[in-house]
Amino acid sequence: MQIKTLHLKNPLILAPLAGYTDLPFRLLCRRFGAALCYTEMISCHGLVYNKKNTLQLTPTVPDDRPLALQLFGADPDMMGEAAAIVSSMNIDIIDINMGCPVRKVVKKGAGAALMKDQNLAAAIIRRVCKKTSLPVTVKIRTGWSHESIVAPEFAIMAEDCGASGIAVHGRTWTQGFGGTVDLQTIIKVKDSVSIPVIGNGDITTYQEAYAFLEMSGCDGVMIGRGALGNPWVFTADGTPTTLAKRMEGLALNLQLIQKYSNPDKILAKIKNHAGRYFKGIAGGSSIRKQIYTVSTFEALKELTQSF
Ligand SMILES: Cc1cc2nc3c(=O)[nH]c(=O)nc-3n(C[C@H](O)[C@H](O)[C@H](O)COP(=O)(O)O)c2cc1C
Repeated sequence: MQIKTLHLKNPLILAPLAGYTDLPFRLLCRRFGAALCYTEMISCHGLVYNKKNTLQLTPTVPDDRPLALQLFGADPDMMGEAAAIVSSMNIDIIDINMGCPVRKVVKKGAGAALMKDQNLAAAIIRRVCKKTSLPVTVKIRTGWSHESIVAPEFAIMAEDCGASGIAVHGRTWTQGFGGTVDLQTIIKVKDSVSIPVIGNGDITTYQEAYAFLEMSGCDGVMIGRGALGNPWVFTADGTPTTLAKRMEGLALNLQLIQKYSNPDKILAKIKNHAGRYFKGIAGGSSIRKQIYTVSTFEALKELTQSF
């Protein structure tokens, strides 16, 4: 798969997930095969105003490539300025979030709200493209609601404005994360543009990912929730069924967290990641309960080693 000048080693992509796709998790998914990873959405205002909480979302290392940094915002000038700022970072793609359903984001006209205002969306894409020489991609939903499925025409607009790729989550804003993924609209998006299209939604195994690529004709497939506690989703062998093998994945995850973050500061987040490794395994719920009782990262490591 090729996005402008960027060649990807395979079509499997880690989706942006706020609160999850930080540096350690991206590195983990890469070790298991993800060809491209996205940062979580990053506020253009936070970048322009140098906000500490926003800057904490930007660290990367040479092994964390190729990397797409996702921006969100509703003001073309601010988005352009943010694009200029991140263009000097070690990243490969700037992605624009036009699909986030979260109320606090859409209330400000950003995320999925932009699917209701194609003129503003077009101005944002044009401005971002003008301010960077990196490839720009846009992540959208199928539309705002069932009555306004606009993804194919929206994708044509994005291509006309200079986007080098489109990622489409096959749901509307009103669907949130419920209902089923609309494969037909994803296919229409693919048929409408000549830039690469990345399909997204509900993929939980490597085999499903390749079946989806076959069915949809998409160039890439983006996996989000299916990768949580399950980096094996990027491997043909899939999620191991033994506790020992699951532990190997978790141990690597914890090792990367320890190397690249301050684990005791984000213990709740780490316990959330750790608990997910025991889904569908005998005794999994008791293990999860024990994980939630620990109060330090060292104790968590000792506990998981004891399994
Ligand atoms: C916890 C969570 C956080 C997310 N954060 C983002 C985000 O920051 N940017 C974005 O474009 N999409 C975000 N999404 C949407 C995902 O990227 C993806 O489109 C969606 O989860 C569907 O794919 P999946 O079924 O493979 O998870 C988020 C989804 C979840 C569940």
